[in-house]
Amino acid sequence: WNSLQCTQAKPITVVVTGAAGQIAYSLLYQLAAGSVFGEDQPIDLRLLDIPPMMGVLEGVVMELQDLALPLLKNVLPTADPEPAFKDADAVFLVGSMPRKEGMERKDLLAANVKIFKVQGEALDKFAKKDVKVLVVGNPANTNALICSHYAPSIPKENFTAMTRLDQNRAQAALASRIGVSVDKVKNVIIWGNHSSTQYPDAAHATVEKDCVAHPVSKAINDDAWLNGEFVETIQKRGAAVIAARKMSSAMSAAKAAGDHMRDWWFGTKPNQFVSMGVVSDGSYGIPKDVVFSLPVTIKDKKYTIVQGLEISSHARAKLDITAKELEEERAEANAVLQQ
Ligand code: NAD
Ligand code: LMR
Repeated sequence: WNSLQCTQAKPITVVVTGAAGQIAYSLLYQLAAGSVFGEDQPIDLRLLDIPPMMGVLEGVVMELQDLALPLLKNVLPTADPEPAFKDADAVFLVGSMPRKEGMERKDLLAANVKIFKVQGEALDKFAKKDVKVLVVGNPANTNALICSHYAPSIPKENFTAMTRLDQNRAQAALASRIGVSVDKVKNVIIWGNHSSTQYPDAAHATVEKDCVAHPVSKAINDDAWLNGEFVETIQKRGAAVIAARKMSSAMSAAKAAGDHMRDWWFGTKPNQFVSMGVVSDGSYGIPKDVVFSLPVTIKDKKYTIVQGLEISSHARAKLDITAKELEEERAEANAVLQQ
């Protein structure tokens, strides 16, 4: 026994804001079970919410203890950003108001953007400089931009917004149409804003059949559906879930947040890209200084925007619409923050 070595990796510090809310409730299990950062990676969890939610959060902490999962080393529930973000390695910014039926996500801007300014400032002061920040709270792209702006000491590449739920929705819709399992469909792209102007684009997507990758467009062979019903269904899927559930998506949003962070942490697979909201560098003629969902590959915890994809005139028009909306959101966010 004496010669046996008991070694375990050092815990990483993972923060979830909005920790008493519905997305966090699904996300926290994935984190504690090792399905995001790996089954050998212990974690210290920091749970941030607002003071009136501390009682509810206490219940979440009890449940986390009762999971009896060995990777979960410490759990800190708090309403104070300083201990929450101190030396953070990975941060899920979920905390914010969700939309209700009949609202667009940008209707949340005035209520939520101030949260992301305050949290950007706190990340700047307390988090590690290589922290990975995933913004889930809506309007996610513009919140991520604002958060990064108020955290100038952290590289802007370390702030991303979640459009993985849209990617997962698009992948599932294509797989269902073709009649294959969802893992056979790859490289569908979400361009632009996580809003009803996003452009879900199957032009570069492939489907694997008999171990060979074929273009999805050929497998479906119905451009009217691909350019019409498919795009609209994905653009409006969040609203459809709200109409049915009377609450916004949570289980699927938490799964997508885990997918996004896992790929950022461990990298993408060969010949595969994923969509993330990232600060635009002007690629594909997109205006700079907006957070725009783009296809990326990831290696060593750094993403690279996929270059050289052919953009049809149809796609160009769609990219311009969603870019314009993001510029408008940016202007509105700046106006709110100057009040
Ligand atoms: P929820 O209302 O269930 O939970 C939100 C939590 O955030 C609440 O506990 C609330 O107290 C907390 N909160 C509010 N202000 C905070 C602050 N300043 N600091 C820390 N916590 C704060 O909402 P939810 O369903 O979990 O959704 C959260 C957000 O995620 C919403 O904005 C929603 O629209 C968004 N969302 C985004 C996507 C996406 O694909 N990007 C998908 C689904 C939901
Ligand atoms: C979603 O896409 O389901 C979320 O962004 C929630 C919403 O408001 O649509």
